[in-house]
Amino acid sequence: MSKYIMLIIISYLVGSIPFSYITAKFIGNIDIRKHGSGNSGATNVLRTLGPKAGGTAFILDFLKGFILAIIGKKLLGIQGGVIASAFVVIGHCYPFSLGFKGGKGVATAGGTIFALYPLIGFILMIIHFLITGLTRIVSLASITVAASFPIVSFILKKPISFTLYALCLGSFVIYKHKGNIKRLLSGNESKINFKK
Ligand code: G3P
Repeated sequence: MSKYIMLIIISYLVGSIPFSYITAKFIGNIDIRKHGSGNSGATNVLRTLGPKAGGTAFILDFLKGFILAIIGKKLLGIQGGVIASAFVVIGHCYPFSLGFKGGKGVATAGGTIFALYPLIGFILMIIHFLITGLTRIVSLASITVAASFPIVSFILKKPISFTLYALCLGSFVIYKHKGNIKRLLSGNESKINFKK
């Protein structure tokens, strides 16, 4: 089997490990899909079970993206890193382990971006922290960061193929937030309480 096909399969399978779901089961003994926003992502774990569980879910979802993108890059260069990034995020959002209903890809995509271009990851993380800190609306921060990703890549003069990938990944993440966008527009999006 070619290295590319192996990388695609392994990235999808690792992406499919639903760490936010597992963390919520393990720490809170709940099915995170039945609480809060219903999303099996770190934000919803934070919202429902507090910072310890939310932080754990975030780190694990972030690390699966980071590690896969590092492996892809080591094996097949930046192209391999991008392939791993795409398929680990697809696995996270459409995991076979949860009937193909997963998270929105932000933490996992973030991990892959840090692995491929740490400066871009750092800039996007600062934007995310600022917006979340100011508004306490994580989805607004995620959508802004997704829209900023190709722009930051372009400004930092990364290869045009990577900037195009950033445009695709950013658009996909925004698409995954369509429910949040509706709630944002109607003023019904929930805020995060860090002190829970
Ligand atoms: O990373 C997901 C976040 O942007 C939104 O999560 O639970 O508010 O839909 P949630």
